[in-house]
Amino acid sequence: MAKIGIGIIGAGGIAQSTHIPGYLACADRCEIVAVADVDGARAREVAERFGIGEAYEDYRELLARPDVQAVSIATPNREHKAPAIAALEAGKHVLLEKPMAMNAAECKEILAAQQRSGAVLQIGLQYRFSSVGKFLGDYVHSGRMGEVYYARAMALRRRGVPTWGVFTDKEKQGGGPLIDIGVHILDFTLFAMGYPKPVSASGKTWQQLGKDPSLWNYWGDYDRDRFTVEDFAVGMIRFENGAVVTLESSFMANLGDDQMRSELFGTKSGATVDLLREPSLIFYTEENRQLFDMMPRNLPRIDSMYTEEIRAFLTAIETGGPSPVPGEQGLILNAIFDAIYRSSETGHEEPVDTDL
Ligand SMILES: NC(=O)c1ccc[n+]([C@@H]2O[C@H](COP(=O)([O-])OP(=O)(O)OC[C@H]3O[C@@H](n4cnc5c(N)ncnc54)[C@H](O)[C@@H]3O)[C@@H](O)[C@H]2O)c1
Repeated sequence: MAKIGIGIIGAGGIAQSTHIPGYLACADRCEIVAVADVDGARAREVAERFGIGEAYEDYRELLARPDVQAVSIATPNREHKAPAIAALEAGKHVLLEKPMAMNAAECKEILAAQQRSGAVLQIGLQYRFSSVGKFLGDYVHSGRMGEVYYARAMALRRRGVPTWGVFTDKEKQGGGPLIDIGVHILDFTLFAMGYPKPVSASGKTWQQLGKDPSLWNYWGDYDRDRFTVEDFAVGMIRFENGAVVTLESSFMANLGDDQMRSELFGTKSGATVDLLREPSLIFYTEENRQLFDMMPRNLPRIDSMYTEEIRAFLTAIETGGPSPVPGEQGLILNAIFDAIYRSSETGHEEPVDTDL
């Protein structure tokens, strides 16, 4: 089988640390032929460092190449929609970083382009390719936990405001921790629950600590005057099947340890998933009036969830199979965030609009 020609659009942090190494780890199946970044010097530097043949400032030149069959898009959130639609219209398969877009309306435009093209569109939500993710989805879907009717999802940082990129700029990112890291734990939780259809959400966002220049930050200082996103968000989401999920997310909050964690409550058992530390998974159940805490001992071994994400993308392209993380699910996440941000302003529960 001929190797899949890959283009990289956006050559910043995540492209260099995960996408490019992921494709290089699959060199028997693909070849990165070009990279594009509006920062031409960065594109050239990345091309040289990773041995990529061509560097462009304008991604449209990269998309014009017939030897590019698939692209990774790793640009800031406001720059997701235009290259994603252009790539799909050029017939390329797309691995699009999370969140899918700034809001649900943009997701719908991207999905319409995907449906016209028939190409693979995968959203960059890698936790479901983690060791625990690979096991848990099948386990829950097999019914062993019974009906999972409630979950708590937490993506909480104590002092974790990103100081690179544009993560504190609402205009360019669409929001703060909710859309940036809440997206990962909400995706993981909904994936485990079989992606029920959301109907409404309420929530509240705050900007309490992020603008305070006296506070320390893990990644160093940043311009407090340009911090325009929330630093803490909470939401409660209702689903058509009666399930409820609560979501908490922060860049800064006065808590103990950071959390990337999901707690699932099923009728036969409950589970705690900890994506930052061991044990990564504990089930809570009862048998013969005895309470058990169970830990799996031989979860699937993987090298890296990021490389697994790339492998899944290549497999979908090679087999014509379904997207491992479809745009429809990216839309659900963005539509939930839209409702939570709206609810924070109105003070009411808001509908979640996922209709195409
Ligand atoms: N999956 C994850 O865990 C994860 C982690 C970090 C970032 N991300 C996502 O990846 C995206 C990028 O984040 P990052 O940390 O790499 O940011 P970054 O700022 O380090 O890199 C973004 C790059 O995109 C370039 N760029 C901007 N507009 C462009 C355009 N129109 N065409 C081409 N290049 C353009 C910038 O010059 C920059 O080099 C964001 O959407 C972010 O949410 C995902």
